[in-house]
Amino acid sequence: MSLDTKEFFEKKADYYNILNDYPPDVFGFIPMGARVLDVGCGSGRALQELVKRNWTVGMDLSFSMLEKSKKYTRNLVCADAHNIPFAEGSFNVVLVSFVWHHLQHPFKAAKEFWRVLKKGGIILIVTLSHEDIANSLFSAYSDEYRKKDEERIPDLPDIHALLEEVGFDNFSYIGKCKHLREKTSRIIERIDKRIFTTFELLSDKEIEKIKSGIKRDFPEEVFYLWTYSILIAEKV
Ligand SMILES: C[S@@+](CC[C@H](N)C(=O)[O-])C[C@H]1O[C@@H](n2cnc3c(N)ncnc32)[C@H](O)[C@@H]1O
Repeated sequence: MSLDTKEFFEKKADYYNILNDYPPDVFGFIPMGARVLDVGCGSGRALQELVKRNWTVGMDLSFSMLEKSKKYTRNLVCADAHNIPFAEGSFNVVLVSFVWHHLQHPFKAAKEFWRVLKKGGIILIVTLSHEDIANSLFSAYSDEYRKKDEERIPDLPDIHALLEEVGFDNFSYIGKCKHLREKTSRIIERIDKRIFTTFELLSDKEIEKIKSGIKRDFPEEVFYLWTYSILIAEKV
C-alpha cells in the first residue's frame, strides 16, 4: 500500500467517532483480569470497555489517535507493533483489532506479539475475512470496492499460516455478525471522510456510484448485516 499508515491515521483521528460501536462479542474471549495489550488501539473503541475489566495498555503509532484514547485510560504508549517496548512475557492477551492489514512486515510484528505474550497467553485478531468483505454493504454497490478490500486485507488462512510459522498453536475461528440500523447520512459521512482506507484507493466516479446507490435504496436509514471474524491462537 502506498499510503503512509501513520500519516493516514493522524488525519483520520477526528472522524473516528462516526464509526459504529465496537463489537461487544470480542470481550467474551478475553478473560477477566488478564493483562491486555491493545495493539493499534486507535481512538479507544475497545479500551473503553477493556479498562473496566482488565489491566490494559493501549499502543498506537498515531499521536492523534492516542489523544482520543486518553478519555478512557492513561496507560498508553506511542509505539510501533514491529518493535514493542515491553519485556518478554508481559501480557496474557494481545488484541490486534482491525490492524493486521496495516502491518508492513506482519511476520516481524507477529514475532513481537509472540515475545510479549506469556506462555499460555493468546493473540486475538479481529478482522474481515474475504467472505466478510464479499458480504459487506459497500461491496454490494461496487465490485471494485470488494476487489480493493480483498487486495489489502489478508484472508484468515494467510494470517493463520503466518502465525503458525511464528510458533502459535490451538487456533480457533469465530465468525460474527451484527444487524445494524443507521442513518443514511451517517454512512454517507463515513464515505465522504474516506474513513476506510479502501475509499482512498477508489476513483471519485466509483465512490459516487456507491453513494448514489445507497441513497436511492435507503433514503433515510440503512439496515444491514455487518460480519467480521475473530481468530484466536495460543503461545504454547
Ligand atoms: C483501523 S484502526 C483500528 C483501531 C482500533 N483497534 C479499533 O478497532 O477501533 C487501525 C489503528 O492501527 C494503528 N496502527 C497501524 N499500524 C500500526 C503499527 N505498525 N503499530 C501500531 N499501531 C498501528 C493506526 O494508527 C490506527 O489507529
